[in-house]
Amino acid sequence: MDRQQLQSLLGQMTLDEKVAQLLQLATPFFEGADDAGMITGPMASLGVTEREVRGAGSVLGLSGAQQVIDIQTNHLKFNRLGIPLLVMSDIVHGFKTIFPIPLAIGCSWDMALAERSAEVAAREAAVSGVHVTFAPMVDLVRDPRWGRVMESTGEDPYLNGLYARAFVRGFQGKDLTGDTDRVAACVKHFAGYGAAEAGRDYNTVDLSERQLREFYLSAYKAALDEGCEMVMTSFNTIDGIPASGNRWLMRTLLREEWGFDGVLISDWGAVKELIPHGVAADESEAALKAIRAGVDIEMMTPCYVHHLADLVRSGAVEERLVDEAAMRVLELKRKLGLFERPLRGADPEREREVVFCEEHRAAARALAVKSCVLLQNDNDVLPLAPAAKVALIGPFAGSGDILGAWSWQGAKEDAVTLHDGLLAAGLDPARLVVADGCGVDAAATAEQLDAALAAAREADVVVLALGEHAWMSGEASCRADIRLPEAQLALIAALKPLGKPTAAILFNGRPLDLHGVADQVDAVLEAWFPGSEGGAAVAELLLGKASPSGRLAMSFPYAVGQVPVYYNAYNTGRPNVPTAPDHYVSKYLDIPNEPLYPFGYGLGYTTFAYGEPTLSANELTAGGELTVSVRVTNTGRRIGEETVQLYVRDIAGDVVRPVKELKDYRKLVLAPGETAEAVFTLAEPQLRYYHANLTWTSDPGEFVVFVGPNSRDAAGVRFRLTAAV
Ligand code: NOJ
Repeated sequence: MDRQQLQSLLGQMTLDEKVAQLLQLATPFFEGADDAGMITGPMASLGVTEREVRGAGSVLGLSGAQQVIDIQTNHLKFNRLGIPLLVMSDIVHGFKTIFPIPLAIGCSWDMALAERSAEVAAREAAVSGVHVTFAPMVDLVRDPRWGRVMESTGEDPYLNGLYARAFVRGFQGKDLTGDTDRVAACVKHFAGYGAAEAGRDYNTVDLSERQLREFYLSAYKAALDEGCEMVMTSFNTIDGIPASGNRWLMRTLLREEWGFDGVLISDWGAVKELIPHGVAADESEAALKAIRAGVDIEMMTPCYVHHLADLVRSGAVEERLVDEAAMRVLELKRKLGLFERPLRGADPEREREVVFCEEHRAAARALAVKSCVLLQNDNDVLPLAPAAKVALIGPFAGSGDILGAWSWQGAKEDAVTLHDGLLAAGLDPARLVVADGCGVDAAATAEQLDAALAAAREADVVVLALGEHAWMSGEASCRADIRLPEAQLALIAALKPLGKPTAAILFNGRPLDLHGVADQVDAVLEAWFPGSEGGAAVAELLLGKASPSGRLAMSFPYAVGQVPVYYNAYNTGRPNVPTAPDHYVSKYLDIPNEPLYPFGYGLGYTTFAYGEPTLSANELTAGGELTVSVRVTNTGRRIGEETVQLYVRDIAGDVVRPVKELKDYRKLVLAPGETAEAVFTLAEPQLRYYHANLTWTSDPGEFVVFVGPNSRDAAGVRFRLTAAV
């Protein structure tokens, strides 16, 4: 079908049929669904008719090749013009083969593996009948209380933009029409959802336009520049107006300024939520505001389907707006080849071969290895000494609950636990004693504690497998206290008097306050929720078959009272300078300003020494380039991968500038004793930012370029930009 045929199809559609294309419903509404008709609670109160369901343009939460075939076949039987349904699902970090959570992927700084994770997820989803994934989620995050930080790639706009692009490439490939192993991507949540006040989900966001543009918007834009087909609105307000009814955000910025002409979908229920937000009196006004703002598909509320046609007939809404929205939906169906192949990739036989195959699991394992971050390794407790007797203790020792939220097709039973991983990686069972110690958030029973103490006593080294339940992060799963649950802190304290060398392995979805952990043990390995192959990946690291190379994509606060704490902050007029102590400076009386572990931080099993960074010149001209070089030497005894990071600071801007901004990084793999040079180029466009009048320009004058292993320890050299643009 070509564009012209699509236009003529639109011409044949009644107003009601066009509006129905803008309705998205969950799977149970559709005949042919495994759970067809199981509509309860808020779903039942939707009050949509059978006719409206039969005309609906898309379905969400659907997968499974046979089920998709049944629903689509049935849908086409009753749809007057034979318009196929679009099948959308949340395939966030894998389909059945679960990859590490996105925040963990964010710590890999490995765009090739990130892209591969999305490609694998797309292949499994597509063969099971999915056309669109509600991913990537690229919300910039600074508050670990917010449960959804696990879905993001962290606090840095540049890094988030690279991941956004990598994920879109992986999901969509180069040819959505021909390559039925790919799915369309939907970047979310537009916009600024990660800035929810107090880290509480769905809460108010109030950012200046400068903050929004400078930090939050660029990753969504990067996804769109990579060709991302869809955008999802966010639940929050932006400058007092909820995103799903925000005309400036959706029409002026997204559509007009950025030129986005793809499908814009509301988040679940977000159109009707304009009512409790307090900007619409009823469903009709909510529909009016959303369509005017530019929302094409309404997910799971009936404001459009019940009111849009009347609004057009009364003249309140121009029919053109409905036509444009319906056309975008039809165009996406055309691009996906659905008019010719309504079942697209859905293939039950191939599904059995492809989904959770060994090749996909190997990709998940490789990324999990790269996503773990070694935060502390006193006395070189890790990797475990070859002959050491190991006590593996803790609620995650044998737990498959390591997939994390948004892994609804993944099965915990299929996940490789740490215990299984260690044995499979060759740890002699005679050298391993295992005890769960306590529950994730259930205090140790006397028997559990005795068993844990006995295991630790007979071991040379203790490996603690600790963390959060998967449900403790993700949507609507915020925590005000971000320490490990009390039961596990008590377990650590109970084992401490034995004086055994101890490594804590953490399975969790957010940066934690590690008091009671980092100060009690020798080593801390942040494994996040590492996915289906998590235990195998962590075992490789513990046994030294691989070395940790992850670098934090989000700061770990010293204490929750610092939150939000992030590296690319402003200096203030009264910065706290430890070498020149003063009372009237920006500081806390009781804790440091700095996070416990900063952005970009991570250790390995070897050490690296940095030379002084050198510049090719100390002036940069507007059209020119500077070369920044630094020599890095592996000063340890093992091969290791270093991520050399380059940051910039503008000393005197038109508006205040962050103390550091990541601009680039290089990975070096060095053998013991080996030295290599990391070479970067820096050009004027990398120094631009939004000035007071929101123009995107640079400042002539002094800059510092920093090169180093993380955002805290980077050494700086000054240069001048001679003329700005
Ligand atoms: C609500 C979530 O905010 C969004 O991320 C998700 O894609 C939709 N529900 C659909 O499941």
